[in-house]
Amino acid sequence: MRILFFGDVDGKIARRAIQKILPEWKKEFSPQVVIANADNVTHGRSINKNHFDLLREVGVDIFTAGDHTLEREEALSLLADDEIPVLRPVNIEGDYPGRGADVFVVGKEELLVICLLGQVFIDKKVSSPFIALDDVLQKFSGIKNIIVDFHAEATSEKAALGWYADGRVSAVLGTHTHVQTADERLLHKGTAFISDVGFCGAYNSVIGVDKDEVINYFLTKKKFKMNIPEKGEAVINAVLVDIDKDGRAEKIVRLRKIVLI
Ligand SMILES: [Fe+2]
Ligand SMILES: [Fe+2]
Repeated sequence: MRILFFGDVDGKIARRAIQKILPEWKKEFSPQVVIANADNVTHGRSINKNHFDLLREVGVDIFTAGDHTLEREEALSLLADDEIPVLRPVNIEGDYPGRGADVFVVGKEELLVICLLGQVFIDKKVSSPFIALDDVLQKFSGIKNIIVDFHAEATSEKAALGWYADGRVSAVLGTHTHVQTADERLLHKGTAFISDVGFCGAYNSVIGVDKDEVINYFLTKKKFKMNIPEKGEAVINAVLVDIDKDGRAEKIVRLRKIVLI
C-alpha cells in the first residue's frame, strides 16, 4: 500500500496549493490513499464543512488533527459523524465528539489511522500519547497497516514515540512544527519515521503566518492577528510511505515543492 501524507494544511493558500498539486502527484506517484493533517485548514484553525468538501473533491481521503481541531464549532459536527473521515486526537482530555483512531478500507485492505497529540509544549490537557497508543493498538489488534500522525512540538517526544511504536505500526509521521525535518528513516523493526512532515502553506512567512506581524510581535510582545498570506509562493510538504503485505514500511520519501498561487 502506498500512502501520500500531507503535513498541516494551513489556510486558503494551502488549500489552493493542494488543489493544484494533488492531481499531478496522483498521476506521478499513484498513492492508494491520501491523508492530510487538517489542524489549520480553515483560516489556520481546524476545518469547516466547505473546506472538508473541497479537499475531498480534489482527492484527500482521510483527515487527521491536532491542537486546534477542537477549537472550531463546525468541526465538532464533522467529528460527530462517523461517516466523515475526520479524526481528532485520541488523547486530548475533555468531552469531545468524534474518534481519534479508525479503520478505513483501501482497495482490498484495511488501514488504521491514529491521531495522537504530544504533551511537551502543547497548551492543551493531553494524556500520555504512549499509553494512548497502547490502548488503541490493543483495541484494533489484528490490523496490519497502521499510520500514526503524531502532532507534537518536541523532536525528543516524537523520536521516543517512534521507537516505542517500532514494529507495532507501519509509520509514525510527525506534524505540528510546520518545518520539514530531514530525518526520515526506517526504524529497526519496520516502522517508517519522520520527526515532522512539514506544513503546506505560505512559503514567505513565519511557519505560515504573515512574517511582519510575527516580527512585530517579537519586538513588542503585543498580541497580533494570525494573518495568513493568501497569494504568492506556497510550500507543499508531504511524505510517501510504502507498506508491504505484513504492514511493515518498505520506504519513506520526503516530498517538497514550491508552487505559485
Ligand atoms: Fe499546524
Ligand atoms: Fe498544531
